[in-house]
Amino acid sequence: MNIPEEVTIIEVGPRDGLQNEKNQVPTEAKVAFIKALKNAGIKEMELTSFVSPKWVPQMSDAKDVIEAGLDSDRNFVLAPNRKGIDRIYDTDVKHVAVFVGVSSSFNKKNINKTTEESMNELQPIIKELKEKGYFVRACISTSFYCPYEGKIDPVDTVALCSQFVEFGVDELSVADTVGMANPLESYELFDRLHNNLGDKVLLTGHFHDTRGMALANIYACLQAGITRFDSSSGGLGGCPFSPGATGNVATEDVVFMLEQMGIRTGISLTGIAEAVDIINPHISRPIGTESSHD
Ligand code: HMG
Ligand code: MG
Repeated sequence: MNIPEEVTIIEVGPRDGLQNEKNQVPTEAKVAFIKALKNAGIKEMELTSFVSPKWVPQMSDAKDVIEAGLDSDRNFVLAPNRKGIDRIYDTDVKHVAVFVGVSSSFNKKNINKTTEESMNELQPIIKELKEKGYFVRACISTSFYCPYEGKIDPVDTVALCSQFVEFGVDELSVADTVGMANPLESYELFDRLHNNLGDKVLLTGHFHDTRGMALANIYACLQAGITRFDSSSGGLGGCPFSPGATGNVATEDVVFMLEQMGIRTGISLTGIAEAVDIINPHISRPIGTESSHD
């Protein structure tokens, strides 16, 4: 069995977790959530996104969240296009995440461009970001299934990931946007990615938990040599343009599973429970962390 000594958790609750929330969460609550997550031991986090406030009103306070939440940790801000990148240049953010779907139908719904159009826009942007010294993470949506096109050919996912590596990104966060992937599919895709790209880029698994398979998928990814996973405290989240998909796998569940297996995460379950208590009153769907105890 391939069991690493240590795994890195990238907390995506403040971004993926909250973006789909229909109540406008007060900026102070977002910042308090971020600070509590950091106190719990989170060292890498997606803070927010610079997207159109008309498309995703919940993220319209991104600049304020960044000003209050930024520190020396690896704090990511998402941006889908030139306008988002220019907004990043107005801040002290040093870690950028771009996002594209393998499925063009999904990409159209999410970013209003085909996958090819997005890639053409992103190639010079990524070159420029790297020249300026930014860390660039590429989030690959619909890597397994698309809500509009169904099953995605893994060959297409690997091809898109390889293109991003040629563009010079530092990390690929490869996502099961809909939460339909099974452990065998997860192992096979990540094994291919690890063998083809593992020495050129950081590889991260991003699982939504629609069918309760996310932990099994993470376990399968460990077997493929993957040691980085995105998760969202309280299991918050979902993409507004992926109908039916539920939240990300819960950080507390991933930490609990890994620590029980003797794998270090550096994250306190009590600390995560405290963070969830801060955000819970602002969430329309109650979230729970019954397993969140050290
Ligand atoms: P568009 O309507 O085609 O954009 O949307 P446009 O270029 O025609 O511009 C329209 C207006 O938006 C203009 O303003 C622009 O200035 C403004 P107006 O003149 O009408 O006042 N605009 C922006 N404003 C702020 N920030 C920007 C920006 N860009 C344009 N960056 C656009 C295209 C990409 C903007 C839109 O489709 C959008 O914002 N999409 C984001 C959708 C989103 O946030 N999805 C969730 C994140 S991805 C995800 O969750 C998946 C992930 O978790 C992995 C997984 O699980 O799969 C990462
Ligand atoms: Mg997601």
